[in-house]
Amino acid sequence: MSDDAIARALERATLLAARGPQRGGNPRVGCVLLDDTGQEIGAGWHRGAGTAHAEAAALAASDPARVAGSTAVITLEPCHHTGRTPPCSRALLAAGVRRVIYAAGDPDPRAAGGRAWLAAQGVDVSTAREAGVVPEIVGLAAELTRSWSAAVRRRRPWVLGKTATSLDGRVAAADGTSMWITGAAARAHGHTVRADVDAIVVGTGTLLADDPALTARGADGTPVVDQPLRVVLGRRAVPEAAAVRQGPGPWLHLATQDIAAALDHLWERGARRVLIEGGPTVLGAALRAGLVDELHSYLAPVLLGAGQPAVPDLGIGTLRDGLRWQRTETYHLGEDILITARRLEGAH
Ligand SMILES: NC(=O)c1ccc[n+]([C@@H]2O[C@H](COP(=O)([O-])OP(=O)(O)OC[C@H]3O[C@@H](n4cnc5c(N)ncnc54)[C@H](OP(=O)(O)O)[C@@H]3O)[C@@H](O)[C@H]2O)c1
Repeated sequence: MSDDAIARALERATLLAARGPQRGGNPRVGCVLLDDTGQEIGAGWHRGAGTAHAEAAALAASDPARVAGSTAVITLEPCHHTGRTPPCSRALLAAGVRRVIYAAGDPDPRAAGGRAWLAAQGVDVSTAREAGVVPEIVGLAAELTRSWSAAVRRRRPWVLGKTATSLDGRVAAADGTSMWITGAAARAHGHTVRADVDAIVVGTGTLLADDPALTARGADGTPVVDQPLRVVLGRRAVPEAAAVRQGPGPWLHLATQDIAAALDHLWERGARRVLIEGGPTVLGAALRAGLVDELHSYLAPVLLGAGQPAVPDLGIGTLRDGLRWQRTETYHLGEDILITARRLEGAH
């Protein structure tokens, strides 16, 4: 089979994997089965915790008679772990798959070992790089599991920090009003991000100022079915009439200012992706503690001149010490712009 067929299969597996949710305990994974000539036999992806893994989905979508002797091209190393579904390593072997090529290793010590076990059973196993796939294509596949892999390796959730600011970096006007700085398109985008995380965190300051419901809503304004956990952080009480107390979906008050402990608690509850929506005090504390992995900065073409800045003093006295981020995407959302950025590996 040509290197080109493998590379194309990995690209397709990546596109399929991206259809899966980022939230939940499991990574986004895609799998494409190829016959000896590089023709696709079947494909599948993981649709979220409790559903079939990508390999099982691809096997189920294939003609069993053609699977014997086939090659599986997968975005992640096959798991070798019995959770809510049986191990993919055994399923691939039982179906007669003869060769396995995967893009990224499994960082979860409970699930890893698929490569070694399959190789010990005589299956030809390699990474996509070892199989000659160019780094750009391997990188796109590995990108799918970046946040999940980092969370699993560090045993704490991947943290996104969100700000919606004026062009001069204010999240609220002098009188504290902040709804709405950005327009409808940016806010709708914000809801898609909410729907793709396990938990949304705000401080008591934001709760008391804005009374946000913190629900994730679809394009038509109705709440999505799987709501993230809504979390209020801080020692002050959550008023009885607060919107966050209303449904849909669960909510939680963590009466602490210890963000690391709060993230540990959320990890134990199964959260792998957490969105800190503010306000500036809580986001600043998370940044100072080096706990923010990704920033989503919505910028609206309005000037306020006064009002709260997006983050408070971070103790940076000179430009050289500024926290530099790697820009990942730029989106035009109506009149507004969204810049997403990632913390540079090993930085701050
Ligand atoms: N445009 C935007 O993107 C955006 C987003 C959110 C908020 N806002 C605006 O921001 C303003 C509220 O700002 P804020 O900074 O007061 O809100 P905040 O960060 O949501 O809340 C601050 C409060 O959280 C508690 N807290 C929890 N963890 C803490 C920690 N590690 N360190 C310090 N305090 C901690 C403290 O209250 P306790 O005494 O209760 O512990 C603190 O006073 C409002 O005007 C709101 O509209 C704007």
